[in-house]
Amino acid sequence: MKVSIIGAGNVGGLLALRLLEFNLGEIVLIDIAEGLAKGKALDLEDCSAVYKYNSRIKGSQNFEEIANSNIVIITAGFARKPGMLREELLKKNALIVKDIALKIKEFSPQAIVLVVTNPVDILTYLVLKITKFSPKKVLGVGLNLDTARFINLISKELNISCSEIEAMVIGAHSETMLVLERFSFIKGIPLSQFLDQDTIKRLKEETINRGAKIVSFYGSGSAYFAPASATAEVVKAILKDERKSLCVSSYLEGEYGLKDICIGAPCILGKNGREKIIELELNPSELALFLKSADSLNQQKEILKKDGLL
Ligand code: NAI
Repeated sequence: MKVSIIGAGNVGGLLALRLLEFNLGEIVLIDIAEGLAKGKALDLEDCSAVYKYNSRIKGSQNFEEIANSNIVIITAGFARKPGMLREELLKKNALIVKDIALKIKEFSPQAIVLVVTNPVDILTYLVLKITKFSPKKVLGVGLNLDTARFINLISKELNISCSEIEAMVIGAHSETMLVLERFSFIKGIPLSQFLDQDTIKRLKEETINRGAKIVSFYGSGSAYFAPASATAEVVKAILKDERKSLCVSSYLEGEYGLKDICIGAPCILGKNGREKIIELELNPSELALFLKSADSLNQQKEILKKDGLL
Protein backbone atom coordinates (compact mmCIF):
# COMPACT_ATOMS: atom_id res chain seq x y z
CA MET A 1 0.00 0.00 0.00
CA LYS A 2 1.17 3.54 -0.73
CA VAL A 3 -0.10 6.68 0.98
CA SER A 4 1.03 10.18 0.02
CA ILE A 5 0.62 13.23 2.22
CA ILE A 6 0.72 16.65 0.60
CA GLY A 7 1.85 19.21 3.18
CA ALA A 8 4.50 18.20 5.69
CA GLY A 9 3.50 20.77 8.31
CA ASN A 10 2.08 20.09 11.76
CA VAL A 11 -0.82 17.89 10.66
CA GLY A 12 1.01 16.22 7.75
CA GLY A 13 4.12 15.36 9.78
CA LEU A 14 2.22 13.91 12.69
CA LEU A 15 -0.13 12.04 10.36
CA ALA A 16 2.93 10.41 8.76
CA LEU A 17 4.00 9.20 12.21
CA ARG A 18 0.55 7.73 12.89
CA LEU A 19 0.57 5.98 9.50
CA LEU A 20 4.03 4.54 10.12
CA GLU A 21 2.58 2.90 13.22
CA PHE A 22 0.05 1.07 11.02
CA ASN A 23 2.84 -0.63 9.01
CA LEU A 24 0.95 0.10 5.80
CA GLY A 25 3.86 -0.06 3.38
CA GLU A 26 5.08 3.12 1.70
CA ILE A 27 4.52 6.72 2.76
CA VAL A 28 5.44 9.78 0.69
CA LEU A 29 5.56 13.25 2.21
CA ILE A 30 5.45 16.23 -0.17
CA ASP A 31 5.89 19.91 0.68
CA ILE A 32 6.79 23.00 -1.33
CA ALA A 33 9.00 24.26 1.48
CA GLU A 34 12.50 23.21 0.51
CA GLY A 35 13.89 20.45 2.68
CA LEU A 36 10.88 20.24 5.03
CA ALA A 37 9.44 16.97 3.71
CA LYS A 38 12.91 15.44 3.22
CA GLY A 39 13.96 16.40 6.76
CA LYS A 40 10.76 15.13 8.37
CA ALA A 41 10.97 11.86 6.40
CA LEU A 42 14.48 11.19 7.69
CA ASP A 43 13.43 12.05 11.24
CA LEU A 44 10.38 9.76 10.96
CA GLU A 45 12.47 6.97 9.45
CA ASP A 46 14.51 6.95 12.65
CA CYS A 47 11.27 6.40 14.62
CA SER A 48 10.72 3.28 12.50
CA ALA A 49 13.99 1.89 13.74
CA VAL A 50 13.12 2.61 17.37
CA TYR A 51 9.62 1.13 17.20
CA LYS A 52 10.36 -1.57 14.58
CA TYR A 53 7.84 -0.28 12.04
CA ASN A 54 8.20 -1.76 8.58
CA SER A 55 6.76 1.04 6.41
CA ARG A 56 9.15 3.07 4.27
CA ILE A 57 8.91 6.85 4.17
CA LYS A 58 10.25 9.32 1.63
CA GLY A 59 10.14 13.13 1.58
CA SER A 60 10.20 15.26 -1.57
CA GLN A 61 9.20 18.51 -3.25
CA ASN A 62 8.41 16.58 -6.42
CA PHE A 63 4.78 15.59 -7.03
CA GLU A 64 5.81 12.78 -9.40
CA GLU A 65 6.67 10.81 -6.25
CA ILE A 66 2.95 10.36 -5.48
CA ALA A 67 2.45 8.09 -8.52
CA ASN A 68 0.40 4.95 -7.83
CA SER A 69 -0.74 6.02 -4.37
CA ASN A 70 -3.76 4.20 -2.92
CA ILE A 71 -4.59 7.32 -0.94
CA VAL A 72 -3.44 10.92 -1.25
CA ILE A 73 -4.14 13.22 1.70
CA ILE A 74 -4.12 17.00 1.32
CA THR A 75 -2.95 18.82 4.45
CA ALA A 76 -1.22 21.67 2.60
CA GLY A 77 -2.25 25.25 3.18
CA PHE A 78 -2.68 27.91 5.79
CA ALA A 79 -4.00 27.21 9.27
CA ARG A 80 -6.13 29.77 11.09
CA LYS A 81 -4.90 32.30 13.59
CA PRO A 82 -6.61 33.34 16.85
CA GLY A 83 -10.01 34.93 16.22
CA MET A 84 -10.28 33.57 12.67
CA LEU A 85 -13.05 31.35 11.32
CA ARG A 86 -12.04 28.41 9.12
CA GLU A 87 -14.00 30.05 6.28
CA GLU A 88 -11.58 32.99 6.27
CA LEU A 89 -8.95 30.65 4.80
CA LEU A 90 -11.15 29.95 1.79
CA LYS A 91 -9.57 31.96 -1.01
CA LYS A 92 -5.88 31.38 -0.29
CA ASN A 93 -6.30 27.69 0.50
CA ALA A 94 -8.55 27.14 -2.53
CA LEU A 95 -5.72 28.37 -4.79
CA ILE A 96 -3.28 25.93 -3.17
CA VAL A 97 -5.70 22.98 -3.15
CA LYS A 98 -6.81 23.52 -6.76
CA ASP A 99 -3.22 23.26 -7.92
CA ILE A 100 -2.65 20.14 -5.82
CA ALA A 101 -5.85 18.53 -7.15
CA LEU A 102 -4.57 18.96 -10.71
CA LYS A 103 -1.29 17.29 -9.76
CA ILE A 104 -3.10 14.38 -8.11
CA LYS A 105 -5.18 13.93 -11.26
CA GLU A 106 -2.00 13.93 -13.34
CA PHE A 107 0.24 11.72 -11.22
CA SER A 108 -2.09 9.45 -9.24
CA PRO A 109 -5.44 9.34 -11.06
CA GLN A 110 -6.62 6.12 -9.36
CA ALA A 111 -6.10 7.38 -5.80
CA ILE A 112 -8.69 7.97 -3.11
CA VAL A 113 -8.27 11.60 -1.99
CA LEU A 114 -8.76 12.81 1.56
CA VAL A 115 -8.95 16.56 2.09
CA VAL A 116 -7.95 17.96 5.47
CA THR A 117 -7.10 21.57 4.55
CA ASN A 118 -9.70 24.06 5.77
CA PRO A 119 -12.38 25.04 5.08
CA VAL A 120 -12.59 21.34 4.46
CA ASP A 121 -16.11 20.82 3.04
CA ILE A 122 -15.89 23.35 0.22
CA LEU A 123 -12.30 22.31 -0.58
CA THR A 124 -13.46 18.69 -0.83
CA TYR A 125 -16.07 19.90 -3.32
CA LEU A 126 -13.35 21.80 -5.22
CA VAL A 127 -11.11 18.72 -5.42
CA LEU A 128 -14.02 16.61 -6.64
CA LYS A 129 -14.84 19.12 -9.39
CA ILE A 130 -11.21 19.55 -10.47
CA THR A 131 -10.26 15.86 -10.51
CA LYS A 132 -13.66 14.59 -11.71
CA PHE A 133 -12.95 11.46 -9.62
CA SER A 134 -15.83 9.31 -8.39
CA PRO A 135 -17.65 10.94 -5.42
CA LYS A 136 -16.89 7.76 -3.48
CA LYS A 137 -13.19 8.58 -3.73
CA VAL A 138 -13.03 12.21 -2.60
CA LEU A 139 -13.71 12.70 1.10
CA GLY A 140 -13.19 15.50 3.60
CA VAL A 141 -11.92 14.78 7.10
CA GLY A 142 -13.01 16.87 10.08
CA LEU A 143 -16.24 15.61 11.57
CA ASN A 144 -14.75 12.47 13.09
CA LEU A 145 -12.42 14.90 14.90
CA ASP A 146 -15.44 16.88 16.16
CA THR A 147 -17.09 13.61 17.18
CA ALA A 148 -13.94 12.62 19.09
CA ARG A 149 -13.97 15.99 20.83
CA PHE A 150 -17.59 15.55 21.94
CA ILE A 151 -16.88 12.01 23.18
CA ASN A 152 -13.86 13.25 25.13
CA LEU A 153 -15.90 15.99 26.80
CA ILE A 154 -18.71 13.56 27.74
CA SER A 155 -16.14 11.12 29.08
CA LYS A 156 -14.56 13.79 31.30
CA GLU A 157 -17.95 15.06 32.51
CA LEU A 158 -19.19 11.59 33.52
CA ASN A 159 -15.86 9.91 34.27
CA ILE A 160 -16.80 7.08 31.91
CA SER A 161 -14.35 5.58 29.41
CA CYS A 162 -14.42 7.02 25.88
CA SER A 163 -14.77 3.45 24.62
CA GLU A 164 -18.30 3.25 26.12
CA ILE A 165 -19.52 6.39 24.33
CA GLU A 166 -20.94 6.79 20.83
CA ALA A 167 -21.62 10.24 19.46
CA MET A 168 -22.75 11.89 16.26
CA VAL A 169 -21.71 15.20 14.70
CA ILE A 170 -22.90 16.08 11.18
CA GLY A 171 -22.96 19.10 8.84
CA ALA A 172 -20.04 21.33 7.89
CA HIS A 173 -16.77 21.20 9.84
CA SER A 174 -17.37 24.76 11.05
CA GLU A 175 -19.33 26.67 13.68
CA THR A 176 -22.50 25.44 11.89
CA MET A 177 -21.80 21.76 12.70
CA LEU A 178 -24.64 19.83 14.40
CA VAL A 179 -23.69 17.99 17.56
CA LEU A 180 -26.56 15.52 17.78
CA GLU A 181 -27.26 14.38 21.34
CA ARG A 182 -30.31 12.43 20.11
CA PHE A 183 -27.88 10.10 18.27
CA SER A 184 -25.36 9.95 21.12
CA PHE A 185 -25.33 7.02 23.54
CA ILE A 186 -23.50 5.41 26.41
CA LYS A 187 -23.63 1.65 25.91
CA GLY A 188 -26.84 2.10 23.92
CA ILE A 189 -28.50 4.28 26.58
CA PRO A 190 -29.40 7.81 25.41
CA LEU A 191 -27.09 10.56 26.63
CA SER A 192 -30.09 12.45 28.04
CA GLN A 193 -30.42 9.75 30.76
CA PHE A 194 -26.96 10.68 32.07
CA LEU A 195 -26.82 14.45 31.61
CA ASP A 196 -29.35 17.28 32.01
CA GLN A 197 -30.14 19.54 29.07
CA ASP A 198 -28.03 22.46 30.33
CA THR A 199 -24.94 20.28 30.63
CA ILE A 200 -25.51 18.76 27.18
CA LYS A 201 -25.89 22.28 25.73
CA ARG A 202 -22.62 23.36 27.36
CA LEU A 203 -20.73 20.30 26.08
CA LYS A 204 -22.11 20.87 22.58
CA GLU A 205 -20.89 24.47 22.61
CA GLU A 206 -17.50 23.40 23.94
CA THR A 207 -17.23 20.86 21.11
CA ILE A 208 -17.97 23.50 18.49
CA ASN A 209 -15.50 25.96 20.04
CA ARG A 210 -12.78 23.43 20.85
CA GLY A 211 -10.68 24.13 17.73
CA ALA A 212 -10.81 27.92 18.28
CA LYS A 213 -9.87 27.46 21.93
CA ILE A 214 -6.77 25.46 20.95
CA VAL A 215 -5.85 28.11 18.34
CA SER A 216 -6.16 30.82 20.99
CA PHE A 217 -3.74 28.95 23.30
CA TYR A 218 -1.23 28.22 20.54
CA GLY A 219 -1.29 31.82 19.34
CA SER A 220 -0.26 30.71 15.89
CA GLY A 221 -1.34 27.57 14.07
CA SER A 222 -4.20 25.23 14.88
CA ALA A 223 -4.73 21.82 16.48
CA TYR A 224 -2.74 18.96 14.99
CA PHE A 225 -2.44 16.01 17.38
CA ALA A 226 -6.13 15.02 17.30
CA PRO A 227 -6.56 16.07 13.63
CA ALA A 228 -3.70 13.76 12.63
CA SER A 229 -5.16 10.90 14.68
CA ALA A 230 -8.65 11.47 13.24
CA THR A 231 -7.27 11.46 9.69
CA ALA A 232 -5.31 8.29 10.40
CA GLU A 233 -8.56 6.69 11.59
CA VAL A 234 -10.13 7.38 8.18
CA VAL A 235 -7.05 6.13 6.28
CA LYS A 236 -7.05 2.90 8.27
CA ALA A 237 -10.78 2.33 7.75
CA ILE A 238 -10.25 2.56 3.99
CA LEU A 239 -6.97 0.69 3.58
CA LYS A 240 -7.96 -2.14 5.90
CA ASP A 241 -11.48 -2.26 4.40
CA GLU A 242 -12.93 -1.94 7.91
CA ARG A 243 -16.51 -1.11 6.72
CA LYS A 244 -16.61 1.25 9.67
CA SER A 245 -19.08 4.11 10.11
CA LEU A 246 -17.34 7.48 10.43
CA CYS A 247 -18.58 10.98 9.71
CA VAL A 248 -16.81 12.43 6.68
CA SER A 249 -17.62 15.15 4.20
CA SER A 250 -18.70 13.77 0.85
CA TYR A 251 -20.74 14.59 -2.22
CA LEU A 252 -24.49 14.28 -1.80
CA GLU A 253 -26.75 13.42 -4.72
CA GLY A 254 -30.16 13.67 -3.11
CA GLU A 255 -29.38 12.31 0.35
CA TYR A 256 -30.85 14.50 3.11
CA GLY A 257 -32.66 16.31 0.27
CA LEU A 258 -29.38 17.92 -0.85
CA LYS A 259 -27.58 17.85 -4.18
CA ASP A 260 -24.25 19.08 -5.55
CA ILE A 261 -22.65 19.72 -2.18
CA CYS A 262 -19.96 18.12 0.01
CA ILE A 263 -21.06 18.02 3.64
CA GLY A 264 -20.49 15.76 6.62
CA ALA A 265 -22.69 12.76 7.37
CA PRO A 266 -22.03 9.25 8.69
CA CYS A 267 -20.62 6.99 5.98
CA ILE A 268 -19.48 3.39 5.83
CA LEU A 269 -15.83 3.45 4.81
CA GLY A 270 -14.05 0.60 3.10
CA LYS A 271 -11.61 -0.24 0.32
CA ASN A 272 -13.49 1.83 -2.28
CA GLY A 273 -13.56 4.92 -0.05
CA ARG A 274 -17.15 5.83 0.76
CA GLU A 275 -19.10 2.60 0.51
CA LYS A 276 -22.45 4.00 1.71
CA ILE A 277 -23.96 7.19 3.10
CA ILE A 278 -26.12 6.63 6.17
CA GLU A 279 -29.22 8.85 6.19
CA LEU A 280 -30.24 9.69 9.74
CA GLU A 281 -33.91 10.34 10.39
CA LEU A 282 -33.54 13.95 11.47
CA ASN A 283 -36.44 15.69 13.20
CA PRO A 284 -37.64 19.03 11.74
CA SER A 285 -35.40 21.22 13.93
CA GLU A 286 -32.32 19.06 13.27
CA LEU A 287 -33.04 19.10 9.54
CA ALA A 288 -33.43 22.89 9.59
CA LEU A 289 -29.99 23.24 11.21
CA PHE A 290 -28.46 20.78 8.75
CA LEU A 291 -29.88 22.80 5.84
CA LYS A 292 -28.53 26.00 7.41
CA SER A 293 -25.09 24.40 7.59
CA ALA A 294 -25.45 23.39 3.92
CA ASP A 295 -26.48 26.93 3.07
CA SER A 296 -23.22 28.30 4.46
CA LEU A 297 -21.35 25.91 2.13
CA ASN A 298 -23.39 27.03 -0.87
CA GLN A 299 -22.37 30.61 -0.07
CA GLN A 300 -18.70 29.55 -0.11
CA LYS A 301 -19.32 27.84 -3.45
CA GLU A 302 -20.60 31.14 -4.87
CA ILE A 303 -17.45 32.93 -3.66
CA LEU A 304 -15.25 30.40 -5.47
CA LYS A 305 -17.36 30.70 -8.61
CA LYS A 306 -17.10 34.50 -8.52
CA ASP A 307 -13.32 34.22 -8.22
CA GLY A 308 -13.12 31.79 -11.14
CA LEU A 309 -11.82 28.97 -8.94
CA LEU A 310 -14.77 26.70 -9.69
P1 NAI B 1 1.14 23.99 8.70
O1 NAI B 1 1.33 25.43 8.37
O2 NAI B 1 1.88 23.41 9.85
O3 NAI B 1 1.48 23.11 7.40
C1 NAI B 1 1.01 23.40 6.13
C2 NAI B 1 2.10 22.98 5.15
O4 NAI B 1 1.57 23.08 3.82
C3 NAI B 1 3.35 23.84 5.18
O5 NAI B 1 4.48 23.05 5.48
C4 NAI B 1 3.44 24.41 3.78
O6 NAI B 1 4.78 24.58 3.30
C5 NAI B 1 2.67 23.37 2.98
N1 NAI B 1 2.21 23.83 1.67
C6 NAI B 1 1.63 25.00 1.35
N2 NAI B 1 1.33 25.03 0.04
C7 NAI B 1 1.71 23.83 -0.47
C8 NAI B 1 1.66 23.25 -1.78
N3 NAI B 1 1.12 23.90 -2.81
N4 NAI B 1 2.13 22.00 -1.95
C9 NAI B 1 2.67 21.33 -0.89
N5 NAI B 1 2.76 21.83 0.36
C10 NAI B 1 2.29 23.07 0.55
O7 NAI B 1 -0.43 23.78 8.90
P2 NAI B 1 -1.16 22.54 9.63
O8 NAI B 1 -1.35 22.85 11.05
O9 NAI B 1 -0.48 21.30 9.23
O10 NAI B 1 -2.61 22.63 8.95
C11 NAI B 1 -2.77 22.34 7.58
C12 NAI B 1 -4.20 22.56 7.14
O11 NAI B 1 -5.04 21.62 7.81
C13 NAI B 1 -4.77 23.95 7.49
O12 NAI B 1 -5.57 24.42 6.43
C14 NAI B 1 -5.63 23.69 8.70
O13 NAI B 1 -6.67 24.63 8.84
C15 NAI B 1 -6.16 22.32 8.36
N6 NAI B 1 -6.68 21.56 9.48
C16 NAI B 1 -7.81 20.84 9.26
C17 NAI B 1 -8.37 20.08 10.25
C18 NAI B 1 -9.59 19.28 9.96
O14 NAI B 1 -10.12 18.66 10.89
N7 NAI B 1 -10.06 19.22 8.72
C19 NAI B 1 -7.80 20.06 11.61
C20 NAI B 1 -6.55 20.79 11.71
C21 NAI B 1 -6.04 21.53 10.68
